[in-house]
Amino acid sequence: MTLSPEATAPADEVVLEAIGLTKHFPVRRKLRDLFRREHEAVHAVDDVHLTLRRGRVVALVGESGSGKSTVARLLAQLHPRTGGDIRLHGESTGVKRGRQFRAYVRRVQMIFQDPFASLNPVHTIRYHLTRSLRIHGNAGKSAAELERALADLLTRVSLTPPERYLDKFPHELSGGQRQRVAIARALGANPEALLADEPVSMLDVSIRLGVLNLLRDLKERLDLAILYITHDIASARYFADETLVMYAGRMVEGGDSESVTQSPAHPYTRLLIDSAPDPDRLHSLRPDAADRGNGEPPSLIRPPAGCRFHPRCPAAMPRCTTDLPVRLEIGDAPGHWAACWLYDRKEGTR
Ligand SMILES: Nc1ncnc2c1ncn2[C@@H]1O[C@H](COP(=O)(O)OP(=O)(O)OP(=O)(O)O)[C@@H](O)[C@H]1O
Ligand SMILES: [Mg+2]
Repeated sequence: MTLSPEATAPADEVVLEAIGLTKHFPVRRKLRDLFRREHEAVHAVDDVHLTLRRGRVVALVGESGSGKSTVARLLAQLHPRTGGDIRLHGESTGVKRGRQFRAYVRRVQMIFQDPFASLNPVHTIRYHLTRSLRIHGNAGKSAAELERALADLLTRVSLTPPERYLDKFPHELSGGQRQRVAIARALGANPEALLADEPVSMLDVSIRLGVLNLLRDLKERLDLAILYITHDIASARYFADETLVMYAGRMVEGGDSESVTQSPAHPYTRLLIDSAPDPDRLHSLRPDAADRGNGEPPSLIRPPAGCRFHPRCPAAMPRCTTDLPVRLEIGDAPGHWAACWLYDRKEGTR
């Protein structure tokens, strides 16, 4: 099995793109709702744009319920979308079953938060990895080739010597080792993109860095495009090339990780950073700019009009309650933007 991508593919090539991605989950209706005209829905994800490139990590950061996992599940084709498009190498894709779905999954693999739940406790590591290699056609033609492919996978995730791990059950491994097996299983597909939904948040703090370093090593050696979902904006700075911040189903800020984490522009990003202290930080909230609201994210069934963050925003202006902010350039680094009216130069409010 060859795990390296074709030598002809340029680095930074766009692998997967979300364009105006939107997901509304219908709310289960009660009998009296049958007579209502409008149908309620959870506005979990609205108009999300993101681009995953070969050999690059994009972090998607936001608090609980902001829609991060929904974005990952949409990109993995586990949910049908309400609107927008998902393009794999420029080609529009939709949720399909059968062969086309398998072909998509081979190229775009997902890693979940809880490695214990994602591995079957009654099967050995050998079973999990063999199954992945077989399903995706990477098991080779003979028992010896399969054995080599299994050893390759475990070596890739630094579980060596492989024979020490192959015949173990998930409960015989540590949390970090289990997550490494889950990553090896994803690599069994020889994917181009990895969607990692909080891959280290269930792990002990002391082993998180090891797993992030492993993902970084895979990104570099296999030229993988990685979406890294996290609550922890400090780890985004360390691990991701680009950081996107999501609030209540919408993207509020994006740019290279250094700019977004060291010079945050959106009041929500500042709030996030303030709640995760970082001694190197250059910017912080002014003392008078404390969280105005009760600190609760808004209802996604009837999200606030205008900017969804305005009820909590220390800098909210009248137009923030009515007008949906557009992406505005911040100007300190190329590609750094915020969806915030504070940065509307036409208004002269900056
Ligand atoms: N299958 C579903 N049906 C209905 N609502 C859903 C479904 N999945 C998610 N939601 C809702 O969509 C919103 C976003 O959820 P999501 O799981 O994407 O958030 P998240 O940012 O991943 O949160 P966390 O950090 O807690 O994992 C939430 O309000 C959630 O209740
Ligand atoms: Mg989640």
